[in-house]
Amino acid sequence: MTGHRGAQAIEQPNLKQKAARFFGQWGVFFRGFVEHPRMVGSIIPSSRFTIEKMLAPVDWANCKLFVEYGPGVGTFCQPVLDRLPRDGALIVIDTNPLYIDYLKQHYRDSRFHAVLGSAADVEDIVAAHGHEHADYVLSGLPFSTLPEGVGPAIADATYRVIRPGGAFLVYQFSAKARSYMARNFERIDNGFEALNVPPCQLFWGWKEPKT
Ligand SMILES: C[S@@+](CC[C@H](N)C(=O)[O-])C[C@H]1O[C@@H](n2cnc3c(N)ncnc32)[C@H](O)[C@@H]1O
Repeated sequence: MTGHRGAQAIEQPNLKQKAARFFGQWGVFFRGFVEHPRMVGSIIPSSRFTIEKMLAPVDWANCKLFVEYGPGVGTFCQPVLDRLPRDGALIVIDTNPLYIDYLKQHYRDSRFHAVLGSAADVEDIVAAHGHEHADYVLSGLPFSTLPEGVGPAIADATYRVIRPGGAFLVYQFSAKARSYMARNFERIDNGFEALNVPPCQLFWGWKEPKT
């Protein structure tokens, strides 16, 4: 019993350590925002309510490759890894080296791959990791403040890289991304999460399965 409690004391971080980790992560995110406000687009990471709602429709049993654009400091990474099958993979792509370095230091899971690059190059990145398609792609990109033409190019490349039956999951403060998704995705489901700072819109763009 004593031994068991002792082991728990080693594994469980205390309140001070938890606080240091939280503010450390928040501090890295905030620094990224200060340095590149238009590319980061938000001052506070997504809430757990947004994460739960966004990931709810994913068919995890049939997910071998999950891709995330704009992971920042990894708000979605652990929740995705917790749901992903043992033989699945998570590729996260971000243009900010500060975030990619942080993620590489904090995630040791062999299914996790952090790539410094642009979401516009998702097809090359997926192929370089030995996959033909992604099952799901999640985006936290600030579509409304990205440079001209980048948003539509990313949405088009995403449609091409997703397998039939898969989906593009997007959370955003404006509906800009939806208009880019509508160019290709056959069905778009809409949602809203008020318990987020600021409240955000959620979209699930579905690529029709082959008949
Ligand atoms: C709003 S933050 C996302 C925060 C995080 N996913 C969350 O839920 O808290 C947007 C992120 O998109 C990244 N980003 C911006 N343009 C990008 C692009 N073309 N390709 C990949 N990442 C990009 C930024 O560096 C930033 O990390």
